[in-house]
Amino acid sequence: MRILLAPMEGLLDHSLRDTLTRVGGIDLCVSEFIRVTDAVLPKRAFYRVVPELLNDGKTVAGVPVKAQLLGSNPEVLAENAARLAQLRPAGIDLNFGCPAKTVNRHRGGAVLLDEPELIGQIVAAVRRAVPANVPVSAKMRLGFNDDTRAEDCAQAIESAGADELVVHARTKAHGYRPPAYWERIADVRQCVKLPMVANGEIWTVADAVRCREVTGCQDLMIGRGMINNPGLALEIKYHDAQAQGLSLANLPQTFSWKQLWPLLGVFWHRMSLHVASRHRAGRLKQWLNYLRRHYPEAQQAFDTLRWVHDPKVIQAWLQHLPETQASSSSMTSQSTIAIASTCEPVDELKTLVVL
Ligand SMILES: Cc1cc2nc3c(=O)[nH]c(=O)nc-3n(C[C@H](O)[C@H](O)[C@H](O)COP(=O)(O)O)c2cc1C
Repeated sequence: MRILLAPMEGLLDHSLRDTLTRVGGIDLCVSEFIRVTDAVLPKRAFYRVVPELLNDGKTVAGVPVKAQLLGSNPEVLAENAARLAQLRPAGIDLNFGCPAKTVNRHRGGAVLLDEPELIGQIVAAVRRAVPANVPVSAKMRLGFNDDTRAEDCAQAIESAGADELVVHARTKAHGYRPPAYWERIADVRQCVKLPMVANGEIWTVADAVRCREVTGCQDLMIGRGMINNPGLALEIKYHDAQAQGLSLANLPQTFSWKQLWPLLGVFWHRMSLHVASRHRAGRLKQWLNYLRRHYPEAQQAFDTLRWVHDPKVIQAWLQHLPETQASSSSMTSQSTIAIASTCEPVDELKTLVVL
């Protein structure tokens, strides 16, 4: 079983990818989409979204990262994919699920699910353009307004030579509202042979177990559930090992707030290298807003920082977090700094790219 970290534009960028993959349990990441319109993008456009390309296509923790492209013109996508492949990502993923109006208006993302033939042309053109050793995958929703063409789209993607297909079990019209229609992933699986990954509404170990049962997919992609609870992938893997009667000796069972707080420092440190200072507090609070659904301590942190915008105040708060939140812990502010400093090798490379 593999657990993939979902692409999430505007929320899960390389800083959070780095942070979450340090926790463990994630096997593969897919970057947020890189939009392709009518030009071949300069290399720096790929490095900006996926700086892991400078680290052999991996996060600092060593988890491979695929780069995702979004567009509708097969030739231009193919040219961009060929250039991207030279930078050696862990694979190239194609987005057929974005619900954003601006993207759909320009015939990109989920709107393509009404045109399975065009989806097939895109996948085939990209597959032809990149070396055989670079995996080409696709991520689709079940449809645009309804799910009647889900099977057609999956078959077009398979026939065009994709290596893997992730299905987010909702149509564009469903937005992100629960439920996810996992049983439709099972239907799609009946019509194709390529490896499939199930995605949508996996928040707990119980959800993961049921999603695998209903869809028949061993591999899962998780987005918001991992942002709420960075230990979710570890918990799922622990449960899996237990169910298979494997040794649990070296497997972490959960990821506590105490273990998480140094990673808030990692996240902050990474952001300080590429996010304008006026936006940094907002980004940290955006993550805390998700974390507070899982960790009561994150609620406390969110309340403390609610009206704070000054990065210097946040920096000071982060350094004192261990003392303020758990005096019984052996962790000190030094450990926050020590762990934060371990992300520097990639950040140095990143700084070069930004410049
Ligand atoms: C804020 C946000 C941004 C997203 N950006 C992308 C994206 O760039 N590419 C993509 O394929 N899917 C994107 N998605 C969809 C997610 O990858 C995923 O399919 C969806 O959140 C359902 O999975 P989950 O229930 O585990 O979160 C995005 C979702 C959200 C909420």
